[in-house]
Parts: sequence; C-alpha cells; structure tokens
Amino acid sequence: MPISRRNFLARAGQAGGFSAAFLLMQSLGLIEAAELRPLDVAPGIGKGVSVAILGGGIAGLVAAYEMRELGYACTILEARSRSGGRNWTVRGGDTVEFIDGSRQLCSWDAGNYQNFGPARLPSVHTAILGYCRKLGVPLEVEVNTSRSTFLENDAANGGRPVVQRQVINDARGHVSELLAKCIRQGDLDQDLSPDDRTRMLDFLRHYGPLDAAGAYVGSDRAGYSKLPGAGNDVGVLNKPIDMHTLLDENFWGGILFEEAFDMQATMFQPVGGMDRIPYAFARALGQTVQYNAIVTAIRKSGNGVRIAYTHAGQARQLDADYCLCSLPLNLLRNIPNDFSAPYREVIAACEYAAAYKIAWESRRFWEQDYNIYGGLEYVSQGCNPVWLPSGGMFSERGVLVSGYGWGAFTDLPLDQKFAESRRTIERLHPGHGKELQKPMYVGWGLVPFNQGSWIQAFSSSERGLDAPPGPGYETMIQPDGPIYFIGDYASRLNAWQEGAALSAQRAVQLVSDRVRAQRA
Ligand code: PHE
Repeated sequence: MPISRRNFLARAGQAGGFSAAFLLMQSLGLIEAAELRPLDVAPGIGKGVSVAILGGGIAGLVAAYEMRELGYACTILEARSRSGGRNWTVRGGDTVEFIDGSRQLCSWDAGNYQNFGPARLPSVHTAILGYCRKLGVPLEVEVNTSRSTFLENDAANGGRPVVQRQVINDARGHVSELLAKCIRQGDLDQDLSPDDRTRMLDFLRHYGPLDAAGAYVGSDRAGYSKLPGAGNDVGVLNKPIDMHTLLDENFWGGILFEEAFDMQATMFQPVGGMDRIPYAFARALGQTVQYNAIVTAIRKSGNGVRIAYTHAGQARQLDADYCLCSLPLNLLRNIPNDFSAPYREVIAACEYAAAYKIAWESRRFWEQDYNIYGGLEYVSQGCNPVWLPSGGMFSERGVLVSGYGWGAFTDLPLDQKFAESRRTIERLHPGHGKELQKPMYVGWGLVPFNQGSWIQAFSSSERGLDAPPGPGYETMIQPDGPIYFIGDYASRLNAWQEGAALSAQRAVQLVSDRVRAQRA
C-alpha cells in the first residue's frame, strides 16, 4: 500500500517519538535545520587566555560553552544560586521574592509550572534550538495560536466572546466578496488584464470562499453552532458575523499576532519548563559556573580586567584577560566600573521595560468545556493576552497566564491585579473566573538581579524587526577595551533567547579574532 508523506511522518512520530519525526522531516527538507553555525575560529585558539563572564543567563552560558571548547579558561560569576537569569520557571515549592521584600510561595501541583521569563522558541531561532539539540533538551510544540480560542470586545456583539476561527474566516470572506464585486463592476480594469480578472475571481471563489454569485454566505471554516454527527445528524454552521461588527470589534491585534515572523507555527518549548535549557548548559559547564557570586566592581587592569565580587559574604577578586559582561545595563549603573564615557552614557540613559505575567492553577476548563488546546486569547479591556498551556494537555489541572504585558498595570496592588486578571477570564469564559486558584505574579521590575525585562528602546517588538535599534546600540556592540557586552540587547533580536545566544557567539568570534591578531 502506498504511504502518503503525511501518514509516514505520523507513523514515524508514533514509533520514535517527536525527535524521530523531527529528524526525518529535517532529512526530507521539510523544515529548516536548527544547526549551529560554526564559528570561524582555529581550534584551541583560547589556550592560555582567561575570560571572566558576568552573569549566567543564556548569553553567559553560551559564551562559556563555546569558549571552553576553544580552550579558553572561563569563569561565570552568577549572583543567584541557579543559572538562567530571566529564563526562570516557577513550580510548586518555589518562592518568588521581590526587591521590596514581598514573598509569594507557589503551591501548584507537581508537574505544573510557569515560565515567567521566555516561554516560546520560534522554529526560525536556529541557534538556541541547535543548543537544545546538542545538549539533549527534549522539546515539544508550543501552541502559540489556536483557532479555537476566544476574542472579546465589550463594545460589540453584546460583549459576548467570539471564536477566533470565525473572526478570521468571516473577515476573509467579506474582504473577498468586496474585491470580487470591484472586479465584476470593472473597477480594477486598469490594474488587471482580462485574463487575470478571471483568474482572480476564480481564486477568490476558493479563498473566500464565495458562492456562484460571488457572495460570502458563511463557511465551515468559520465553525459550527452544532457539530455534524452520525446518520442524519446534520451540522449547523455559525452565522457569519457581519463586516460592520468585525470592523467595530477591533480584533485585528489578536488575529494578526501569529503572522509575525517570530510568532509563526511551529513554536517549541522544553518539556517540563524553559529552565531545562540553562540547567543543561550548567550541567555541561560544571565548575565553570560560580553561584552566589555578586559582582561589586568591574575594573580595567593592565591589559585585562579585575572583577571584584562577593561569595557567601566574602570579598573576592577575579583577574582575567577579557570580560564578557551580560549584566543588565540598569544594574551596571550602580556597580563601580571603569567603562569609558560613551558606555557610561548609554548605561545611564537606558530604560528597561518591566514585563509581568500573572499565572493561575485551574481545572483545564478551556480544554474540557471548550475544546481549546493552547493558544492566546484577547479581551478589549483587561489582562491581555490569556496564554493557555501547551504542556500536560488532557491532564486534570493546568496553569494559565492572564495576562502578560508591561505598562501602568504593574503599579496596582497585588490583590487588584489578581482581581483584574480573574475578571479577564470571566469575560472570555463566563462562570469560570471562580475556578482560578493559587495566583502567582512575577513583575520583572521587582525581581532581584534584574529589575527589568528588556531594554525598551532596543525592542524589535515595539519597533518592528527591520527598525534600527535605539540610540546607544552601536556603542554597546563594540568592545570597551577588554570588555565585551553580551545579551539579547546586543542583537537584532531583543527580548529573545536567540538574541542572547547570537550576541555571545559574536563576542567569542571577536575575542578570538583579537587573540589571533595579537599572536600573528
Ligand atoms: N520574546 C518575548 C515574547 O515572545 C518578547 C517579545 C514579544 C519579543 C513580541 C518580540 C515580539 O513574548
């Protein structure tokens, strides 16, 4: 029996698990390979060269991992007792402690967790995915969008939520109908040849879909009010939402989110929590990572650097030929240093966003009562987006986010935040707000050793992927003598682990080029 490509992949997936299917798809050329781009560096170039790496987040870990391979003597100074930095997963038993002294104890069921920092890996982020492959971090699909999720707008449809598949497909149907009308009325005769007019009308009939008269009268793509079944159990289609309502409802942010280059399926997450990535690096690096090491001064000395730090209350120092510094710029402001004037100016002026997430444990009512599995939901007023879990589907309880953002909301007292967050769920899924339990709030502005989430002015999310980074960027990506600044902000992928990894690789390359030039 001939096997279709799709069946073949499904079978491979069953037999060998996800990675077998993944490798097979890659070998068939169906996905872009998450290969690490090799550095252009002679093996062993780092022998006899020492490097102080400040911060054990993704940038510092990648730098140490690559430099050790090249023979450099590396030390990571990490202020916390864990690696990962903003890559932070909270589970039952963990405590969230803020700089204001407030504490929250997490008491979620075993297996439940929330990634309060990064929580998705685009398939186009080949560096970080390449490290996951190399380090053996098991990945699963992160469902970044689901057509079954809900959108709500107080001002339209009586505030009743609508399902995303209906908004997307009805909007497309209406636009197709209007375009077909223009073509038939001759409005586009200047723009389309007679041939292309026919072809375009034919395309719109399928794309809309439109009926023989060129009207959009609804479609099964937009979903059913009653599902079809066996025998004579006929399905009933949703009645199309009219264009006026769709325009009114301003749903576009929600339905277009998944079109962004770095938000498109397929997205991934490590099975069990994002922190599996830094912990895999830390395992590979062993003694290279010094925990509870708080940097107190960054000095240039001779041709290298002298880093002062405390370890378990004891003052220590580390001399090295080079320094790779990944500490947040807003904290570097307060650490005595020998940076040159242009760097000090950028560091003094930069502003960090303070992204937050609010997460709750609940019965998986979205799965059990609404057939929604993962994805993002949006309301017109409230805690956007709601982010439903991709892990542990079909288990009894899960952890959802309501919501994830940055801005004025961060100033509300905690109980008001939680009340607003619960109201958001009530708007989208009336009657279920009360099922939310054990809320946890992480606002990165209050997290020790971060006090911010990402540099606002460098953010591609604000400025578009092609936009030039904010003022100061060009300074920060150049070394200040023996000191190289690394981190997501030193890349064109601000606020992504990929950016952190690429900036680290770049610094390894630049240092190695310099070492070679000095030896020549
Ligand atoms: N990488 C973060 C996220 O996925 C922040 C970000 C959001 C970056 C949107 C770019 C665009 O949520």
